[in-house]
Amino acid sequence: MGKHSGFQTKRVIILGSTGSIGAQTVEVIEHLNTLTHQSESSIRFEIVGLAAGSNHRQLIDQADKLAVRDLALANAPGRFDQSGLNFRLGHDAPRRLIEEVPCDLVVGAIVGIAGLDSVLRAIELGIDVALANKETLVAGGGLVIDAACKSGASLFPVDSEHAGVWQCFSAMTPMSYAPPMPAPESIERVILTASGGAFGTQSRDQIMHAKLAEALNHPNWSMGTKVTIDSATLMNKALELIEAHWLFGLNADQLGAVIHPQSIVHALVECADSSVIAQLGAPDMKVPIQHALTHPMRSRACADRLDLAKLGILDFHEVDPDRFPAINLAMNAIRAQGSAGAMLNAANERAVEHFIAGQLPFGQIDHCVASVMDELSIEPIHTLADVYAADARARACVDQCCPNKAGETR
Ligand SMILES: NC(=O)c1ccc[n+]([C@@H]2O[C@H](COP(=O)([O-])OP(=O)(O)OC[C@H]3O[C@@H](n4cnc5c(N)ncnc54)[C@H](OP(=O)(O)O)[C@@H]3O)[C@@H](O)[C@H]2O)c1
Repeated sequence: MGKHSGFQTKRVIILGSTGSIGAQTVEVIEHLNTLTHQSESSIRFEIVGLAAGSNHRQLIDQADKLAVRDLALANAPGRFDQSGLNFRLGHDAPRRLIEEVPCDLVVGAIVGIAGLDSVLRAIELGIDVALANKETLVAGGGLVIDAACKSGASLFPVDSEHAGVWQCFSAMTPMSYAPPMPAPESIERVILTASGGAFGTQSRDQIMHAKLAEALNHPNWSMGTKVTIDSATLMNKALELIEAHWLFGLNADQLGAVIHPQSIVHALVECADSSVIAQLGAPDMKVPIQHALTHPMRSRACADRLDLAKLGILDFHEVDPDRFPAINLAMNAIRAQGSAGAMLNAANERAVEHFIAGQLPFGQIDHCVASVMDELSIEPIHTLADVYAADARARACVDQCCPNKAGETR
């Protein structure tokens, strides 16, 4: 971080800047810089690089607005106007952006396994990462955590539930600059809350042929397409349980999920002495994004404040394992280790692609993932190539199990 006239400058690269989390990160940074300008904060954020998948127009608009010159685009169109901009193009463009542009913090907000190699590279280079991209840890958690231990880089969770656990843990440990870890014996269980997604309490039969637009109609959160569909199958919670396993070093028996339709309590930590510490906040991703950017300081929020009296009631109920098999699939993957996480993640990504394309009924997504986990053997993971091999096997298996047999679902 550079120091100029009383404030420090933190240089940030946003991977996935054109998506829901990426755009909200830009908003939070603009808000925080306003606070710095008004002498309410001593850190000024400078966005020095942006990366996206294929949306070159939005990326260029962001670059113009934010005066950023260094960009990465993974799936570039044949020809487009790059004048005045320093573009890296191709699937490894986000990784090259990280290698070539000096920065203090990377925000990992690419969707899917596509985000793994750039986040891993940042961690290997010792750069702190504010991580939204849960698939990175689900598929390559062992590699990322090993790299962080070697380089000393910190991972700051952006996912609201993990940001919640992190804040609960802060209440159990002395202040620190990296995510705090209480003594393992002081934790009985960490519970992540799930809204239940678009279909609330509807039965499997009712949602078997749910349409894409219905699956995207999330009651509380406005998010990207894939994560919203994952919320409706509870695969999002399944992926988050695996993410929590890697982030906090918890085993499957120390992890659980509970349905909480209001999405106000994000996470609960049950301590050994039976005390339960919970983290609450309005369902607005700008809150955990800001927390990851400003930790260990707190700044004035750019989100609505929580009004519990207005809310009145908070409900909690158990996850029905028959209706939401994804949760048990995640627990099994945590116990199995090796390539299980990469396979589960890839099978889900591919099954969701089939659903979006109208080639798989909504109610078959998690069954398709379960078939892949039954079908394929679990292999050890030593390298990124091992992760990609497991990913490719799982995708091929989905394509064999579910070859366009559903007809039109949209
Ligand atoms: N949205 C939320 O509220 C939320 C909450 C918690 C966690 N998360 C997690 O955060 C991640 C991002 O979610 P999102 O909702 O922001 O997704 P999103 O709106 O779909 O945005 C995804 C971003 O990734 C970019 N991208 C896709 N493929 C890429 C590739 N191969 N290389 C580089 N960039 C690529 C997209 O670029 P284009 O625009 O060019 O396609 C876009 O910028 C996911 O892992 C999700 O689970 C999201």
